[in-house]
Amino acid sequence: MGHDQNGRADRLNRIKKTSITLVVAGLVTIGLFQNCDGGFHYDPNSGELSSLGAAGAGVGSSDFKLTTFNSSGIVVSEGQSFQGGVEYKVVASGTRIADSVLSWSLSDNTGNCVLKSGTGPETRFVTCDKSGRVSVQVTAIWPDGSTSVLASARTTSELIRDLCGTSDGNRIVFRIPAGTGTMAWNSSSSPVLMFVGQTLRICNDDSANHQLHTDGQPCAHQNAAMSKGQFYDCAIANTTVTGLYDHISGTNAAFYIRTLDGAALYADTTKTSSNQSCASCHNAFATSSKRGSSFTSIKNAISSNRGGMGVYSGRITDDEIRAIAYALNR
Ligand code: HEC
Repeated sequence: MGHDQNGRADRLNRIKKTSITLVVAGLVTIGLFQNCDGGFHYDPNSGELSSLGAAGAGVGSSDFKLTTFNSSGIVVSEGQSFQGGVEYKVVASGTRIADSVLSWSLSDNTGNCVLKSGTGPETRFVTCDKSGRVSVQVTAIWPDGSTSVLASARTTSELIRDLCGTSDGNRIVFRIPAGTGTMAWNSSSSPVLMFVGQTLRICNDDSANHQLHTDGQPCAHQNAAMSKGQFYDCAIANTTVTGLYDHISGTNAAFYIRTLDGAALYADTTKTSSNQSCASCHNAFATSSKRGSSFTSIKNAISSNRGGMGVYSGRITDDEIRAIAYALNR
């Protein structure tokens, strides 16, 4: 058990301290990958090396133990992998812990893991982001100079970063759904609505590669295939949308978007019953007296016939008003 000092002192004392340290580290690593034992105790006076015994949920024994928790405070049992990007709490505990000085390290770290300090000497946090291995090791130095080493070795998984982000006023995010393969990216009945000046960010959530084909309108042809997790920013320069499709799969793998140009709509005289446009009453677009106007204020001005703006009623859509508002706020 954990801390006895009897036995083969004479034999082990003949071996140099440094080589024992290497043997201990080796045994701890091998032992834990086989998921047998919790750790070892080494007494420099007697040269005794002894097992700390099986640990149940953590590693170690009741007098010195190492336990890992996930962010919900649930014990992550030995042998269970670390998920990429997730922070785990590793706690040293036990009846004798108060008498020890603890030191922590990552004795194996091909998982690109980081060890962070916790609230006290007996707590550490570890986060990994690559697929590989990690071994969180804690060494307790006891008052008599002897040490105990515990290590929790696990495999780690890759952190899948979502580089794509979310839509905002200037950027509209479209995700090619997982499982799309050679099929269309979306349906003609629900095209992506884009305003000139906005960026259409196409993100690939599919395990197959994809590549946007355009004839140069309304944005440049994507120059290379993108794999899962990558994206392409298509800057909407105009309202010309000839067939868009997946360059890899051909025209059947269609992509439907709809574009509106707010600046053009601002000057469009076909949207009123009086052949007028915003420009007729609020200056040309470039010098508009309505810069910064919101969708709601334009919409309300039309429905309340403010200054005669009712000439737009039933002739302009909400999306067209949104496009004008977007242009007036660029
Ligand atoms: C027939 C002339 C006329 C046309 C066409 C017209 N407006 Fe107006 N608009 C007015 C007048 C007059 C007012 C009230 C005075 C003011 O706020 O400038 C007004 C008010 C507004 C307001 C302020 C509303 C508020 O809540 O105070 C906004 C915004 C606006 N117009 C935007 C537009 C836009 C955008 C268009 C084109 C889609 C447009 N207007 C077309 C005449 C017009």
